[in-house]
Amino acid sequence: MSGLANLQKRFFAWGMSRANDADSDGVKLKDCDDHESLGELKAALLNSVQGRVVEIGPGAGASFAYLPKDIQWIGIEPNPYMHRYLQEEARKQGIESVEVYEGMAEKLPLIDESVDTVVGIHVLCSVGDVQEALGEIRRVLKPGGVFVFLEHIADQRGSWNRRLQDAIAPVWKGLFDNCHPHRETDQVLQAQGFERVDEEYFRLSFPNYSPHVAGVARKS
Ligand SMILES: C[S@@+](CC[C@H](N)C(=O)[O-])C[C@H]1O[C@@H](n2cnc3c(N)ncnc32)[C@H](O)[C@@H]1O
Repeated sequence: MSGLANLQKRFFAWGMSRANDADSDGVKLKDCDDHESLGELKAALLNSVQGRVVEIGPGAGASFAYLPKDIQWIGIEPNPYMHRYLQEEARKQGIESVEVYEGMAEKLPLIDESVDTVVGIHVLCSVGDVQEALGEIRRVLKPGGVFVFLEHIADQRGSWNRRLQDAIAPVWKGLFDNCHPHRETDQVLQAQGFERVDEEYFRLSFPNYSPHVAGVARKS
């Protein structure tokens, strides 16, 4: 990794750790029937997960505030500068069983059918290969296990917002650690062979990040 890329990773990790203190209840959702704020939605998605829980791309640990304290949490985070913040945030939020690995969602360092839940929040926008990552998630989930997801996605083809997403993508990826503003992650997820996908579409109030999908995909 070049010196600049290293510095970028360090800065990104520091920024994510600062964001842990942001108030997700203050981020309001549009076009969402069941939840008013991002905080409320995250709580609904995460507060009943149990057992062995793997989180891909956990960043600096923004999800810890919403997860039950008694889970066995395993984080797969490629940015090593996040790891210290993850441990600190887990301690702050009272989650005791924490293991962090420097790895990628596309090649999970876990054996087949060994995990109850996989969590992915704002991460499939950044992985190198979404299909490969979803294939790995299905591989490590036990039968009946669930993938809990929350992602920003591409707007409808032909819309002005989609044109904007397509136009800014090359610069955006460089600035924000390979984040693709225009990925059709929901379509890929639907085609991945999960037994059932319960999902909800909604919007946040800033433009290119606006369209989102969140939900639970169950492995048969
Ligand atoms: C936008 S951040 C989101 C962090 C966290 N999930 C949150 O909600 O605050 C994206 C995270 O995905 C991680 N990431 C990027 N590529 C990845 C990959 N291939 N596998 C796993 N994590 C990845 C980044 O290092 C970063 O921590």
